[in-house]
Amino acid sequence: MPDRKPRVLATRLFPPAVEDRLRAGFDAMLNPADTPYDADRLIRAIDGCDGLMCAAGDPVNAEAIARFPDTLRIIATFSVGYEHVDVAAAARRGIVVTNTPDVLTDATADIAMLCLLGAARRAQEGIDMLRRRQWTGWTPTQLMGTHVTGKRLGVLGMGRIGQAVAERARAFRMTIHYSNRHRLPESAANGATFHADPQDMLPHCDFLSINCPLTPQTRKWLNAARIARLPDGAIVVNTARGPVVDDEALIAAVRSGKLASVGLDVFDGEPNLHPGYYELPNAFLLPHLGSATAETRNAMGFRALDNLEALLLRGETPPHQVQPA
Ligand code: DGY
Repeated sequence: MPDRKPRVLATRLFPPAVEDRLRAGFDAMLNPADTPYDADRLIRAIDGCDGLMCAAGDPVNAEAIARFPDTLRIIATFSVGYEHVDVAAAARRGIVVTNTPDVLTDATADIAMLCLLGAARRAQEGIDMLRRRQWTGWTPTQLMGTHVTGKRLGVLGMGRIGQAVAERARAFRMTIHYSNRHRLPESAANGATFHADPQDMLPHCDFLSINCPLTPQTRKWLNAARIARLPDGAIVVNTARGPVVDDEALIAAVRSGKLASVGLDVFDGEPNLHPGYYELPNAFLLPHLGSATAETRNAMGFRALDNLEALLLRGETPPHQVQPA
């Protein structure tokens, strides 16, 4: 046990139970106003800290990490995705990086299904019509959407979340196709058809669910040429990271009718999404709610704390350390 409580900077306002445990174990520098940190403010605030508890969107890039104090030993992100942290730059400085896998799998897969159903069933248009008090009553042709049951779902990135989406989709009697860096054992694939090249999967996707991490290889992966390979009237769902899609191409495809709709929980440049999305009445859009249940956000915080406590309080290897690519 160290002779003083290690100091940890928390970049955001985290759930109360998470902050209570953070305060119990550490000299916690909290952010009760939840004002997002820019790089300069982060560098000033992190002075003298042993640990950083950060979140998606924080500027923990190579430039910032180069200016972090020598005292900093761990960056524990409150997220499974860690593209906002330059893991290689941290490794060069001997700083451990950790994330929070598993605990948000179900919540995120639930939101993927919400996006899939919301986009297919024109939920946004229905909600808008109601709330604008424009609904004049049921009609036989009103807001007819796309049937989900029995359709083909392609999952791009069949990791934990992709598999959980597939599991849910099977309850809708959907046929599952997937593309992944590695083919899954049959026990995990559960009858899903593997496509070694994700481009080959696209013609089989009445629905495409994006569940891969954001990497240099996946940035703007879903571009105009790949959208053209989808069947006419397909629906794209993204609950992974916004920059995996080319916004201009996706918006153009919905406008032209090539895609029936999109269901999106994540956006390039969040919270400033491409203005074209607001002009698509049939797009089902959510503000990055994938992991937003009280239970999941607590579990993510506790997982981040498991990592901080292992290294800073017990000198152990944190359970969820990530490695440079
Ligand atoms: C994650 O954990 O990666 C979620 O998207 C929240 O950032």
